Amino acid sequence: MTAPPTPAPAAGRGALDVRAEFPILAQRVNGARLVYLDNAATTQKPRSVIDAVRRFYEEDNAPVHRAVHTLGERATAAVEGARRVVARFLGAESPDEIVFLRGVTEAMNLLAFTLGESLGPGDEVVVPLSEHHSNLLPWREMCRRRGATLRLTPLAQDGSIDMPALESIVTGRTRIVSVAHVTNVMGVVNPVREVCALARRAGAVSVVDGAQAACHMPIDVQAIGCDFYAISGHKMYAPTGIGAVFGRRARWAQAPPWQTGGSTVERVSTDDVRYAEAPARFEAGSPNAAGIVGLAAAVRWLEGVGIDRIAERESAAAARAREGLASLPGVRVFGPSEGSAPVIAFDAAGAHPHDLATLLDGFGVAVRAGHHCAQPLADWLGVPATTRASFAAYNTVEDADALVEGVGRALETLR
Ligand SMILES: Cc1ncc(COP(=O)(O)O)c(C=O)c1O
Repeated sequence: MTAPPTPAPAAGRGALDVRAEFPILAQRVNGARLVYLDNAATTQKPRSVIDAVRRFYEEDNAPVHRAVHTLGERATAAVEGARRVVARFLGAESPDEIVFLRGVTEAMNLLAFTLGESLGPGDEVVVPLSEHHSNLLPWREMCRRRGATLRLTPLAQDGSIDMPALESIVTGRTRIVSVAHVTNVMGVVNPVREVCALARRAGAVSVVDGAQAACHMPIDVQAIGCDFYAISGHKMYAPTGIGAVFGRRARWAQAPPWQTGGSTVERVSTDDVRYAEAPARFEAGSPNAAGIVGLAAAVRWLEGVGIDRIAERESAAAARAREGLASLPGVRVFGPSEGSAPVIAFDAAGAHPHDLATLLDGFGVAVRAGHHCAQPLADWLGVPATTRASFAAYNTVEDADALVEGVGRALETLR
């Protein structure tokens, strides 16, 4: 498991039009062309990912790390090959820094319940107010159990982190700073590099939630300077139920085991146990091998298309949607108008987000309505819920127009 990360495939494949690679998008929904704009919740899967998972089950499926037979060796090679792909994708120094798990929620629980074990009264964990509950509640729960304090960083007027406030909150008492790279409601791109540098200067561990970032921008954990970085497969074209967390080798070495059981140990006797090093120490039980293979296929797909080209296309579509929505009477678009990821939350006077989303579905436009698992942020915005449209590689300006037209029509009905 110490082989160096494999080199990235060459990016680019002519004009970017990937919709046809996503079988699910070929269908019509409610008589209309499907315009899928719930990508921040989960993305659709390209044929290459679906095929990789199918191929694994048809050709290589076997227990991983435990069998000497041919299929077992192939399945193990597939999982460890995937670890190298993810390590390279994130810029890790070694594949051993990558732990596979179910997703970012599980990653944050792993980190909170291992790193957090040494917290005590007087210690502080710092998290911005805009975080998804997955990057809030594990820390809150661990702080409660250990008598430590969770400090929520206030936001600037546009919903981005109030950096001067953060600078005063992060002190010698701070033990952990955990922040989203991109927020899931308004698509704010947080200055994670600065946040991690701040944490480092205070002697704190830095954790980055990359659930909303890894599908939209190149990730380099060395440039970010974080100690941990978590990604969620199903939000980046991979199967559901698989994710990964990067951690610096020295940081993993400080973390006690969390879930224990098969695969996590070097030696167990009747009265003692010696745990393995990362990643095995944190991968209890049989891994989701097919999911891991699918995650590597998704990374290859992203790299093959070219993440910069995807970002360019997504921002064009999102900018069109943002502008179109803001021009509708009584519609308020939240978040910074510039520099955000293609995730747009909005509120329409006189229309409940759930009603709006239901009417949009009737036009074949799938969006999200609710608090998006970020209730402190909804309170801060002063609304119980918002409607959220989030874009992916297969979305076009035509999709943006369909959204804006659909919202306009829905509002005529609802008002
Ligand atoms: C910013 C953010 N963090 C964490 C999560 C949870 O991720 P997962 O579904 O991988 O557990 C989400 C899901 O919406 C998210 O948007």
